[in-house]
Amino acid sequence: MAKNKTVYTCEECGYESSGWLGKCPSCGTWNSLVETVIQKKSAKSNNRAWLALDSVSDQHAVINLATIENDVQKRLCSDIEEMDRVLGGGFVRGSLVLLGGDPGVGKSTLLLQTLANLTAQYSTLYVSGEESPTQIKMRADRLQIAAKQIRMLTATDFASIAQALQKHKPDFAVIDSIQSIYVEEISAAPGSVSQVREATAGLLRIAKSFNITIVLVGHVTKEGGIAGPRVLEHMVDAVLYFEGEKTNQYRILRAVKNRFGTTNEVGMFEMTQSGLRSVDNPGTAMLEGRPLNVPGTTITSTLEGTRSILLEIQALLNPTDFAQPIRNTQGIDRLRLNMLLAILHKSCGISVAPYDAYVNVTGGMKIIETSADLAIIAAVVSSIQDKPIDSDLIILGELGLTGEVRMVTAIERRVLEGLRLGWKKFVVPAACKRSIKNISLPDACEIFYVSLLKEALDLLFS
Ligand code: TYD
Ligand code: MG
Repeated sequence: MAKNKTVYTCEECGYESSGWLGKCPSCGTWNSLVETVIQKKSAKSNNRAWLALDSVSDQHAVINLATIENDVQKRLCSDIEEMDRVLGGGFVRGSLVLLGGDPGVGKSTLLLQTLANLTAQYSTLYVSGEESPTQIKMRADRLQIAAKQIRMLTATDFASIAQALQKHKPDFAVIDSIQSIYVEEISAAPGSVSQVREATAGLLRIAKSFNITIVLVGHVTKEGGIAGPRVLEHMVDAVLYFEGEKTNQYRILRAVKNRFGTTNEVGMFEMTQSGLRSVDNPGTAMLEGRPLNVPGTTITSTLEGTRSILLEIQALLNPTDFAQPIRNTQGIDRLRLNMLLAILHKSCGISVAPYDAYVNVTGGMKIIETSADLAIIAAVVSSIQDKPIDSDLIILGELGLTGEVRMVTAIERRVLEGLRLGWKKFVVPAACKRSIKNISLPDACEIFYVSLLKEALDLLFS
């Protein structure tokens, strides 16, 4: 008779305990332990046959590091430029990659397009636990890739997926999504911590044993992390996040972990009527259709990986009679705006109390860098005074509480990229003078150094 074992697993960190605890001793989260019953199968049962893969044994042979071939040729290039760029030149053979993102952001679309591109050269398999073959076909029609020979399987139980992978031994497989898969031996619901962990462990073994590149789609929790224990992120070779507002056409693919490349690169995509398209000119894509010579708008440069992207910041300051004016932001932190407005008042005497303030980063992008502080305040003052800022100007600088303009990181890269994209005028912190001296600037380039907010406003609006 098979015995069942009950363990309590922390949903945050994967810690296991034999009894229930209110607080996880490992990560300190309250009320995160859930009961999991593991059914121990009798010796005859063969349900975990994948654990005893024949090929596993010769993996343990001791080898010489010098004799290992370089992996350069072993990467599968999807020919989706931005995707390969984020991965460091394509998918490494036999790697396990986790792709997370909000529902509807375009994960399935991106992977179906990747599969379509890879199918010409490699054998592929698309495993869907969420959509029916007809739904997938409809998407493929929309992406105009329906004629491609993509093999697919709709299944949610781990054993049949493992079997299909071992039978077909594709070069590249997609599991959409890891949360929809269940391992029969574990009684918890699909998507629960123990299920996700067990299924990932099994897939990791298959990926390494058969040299199959497997991409797992992972759902994202309210807090923005990939649902499931953090150990999941440790198990896989690369963790990618697909970000973007559903209402906006731009999407960013970001690597937060990559064992085979840098995590510094981001890929930019545009969601179109017929799927995702790599953005050709990410540096200026966000400026499309920007108004020229109107008050309340200015340009700053933000760093995304090794790229610098130009963003337009818009501010609308509207007189209000209410005692509590509105402070509304999109793409920047509202608390940061409050602080910047306080600095503006204290150091330049410009009060925004009688105005509702709306500040927006266009294109649905988010700025987390403080390098945009000066540009935000410049747009605010431009709106209050109804004076446009020179639209050929890039404004950079962090604001300190005493009204000083502080240095920003990687100023050389931002200026050089701005120049490459056709901008010639820059307002930059005086503290960056030394860094800028190191780069050779064309004659037509004008750099204005400012050390105080007041000085910057005098320069912009005098
Ligand atoms: P999907 O790939 O299903 O998202 P996920 O797998 O991350 O949940 O993408 C769904 C969204 O993408 C949906 O709202 C419609 C939109 N979309 C397009 O705009 N164009 C397209 O060609 C496709 C296939 C989807
Ligand atoms: Mg999907």
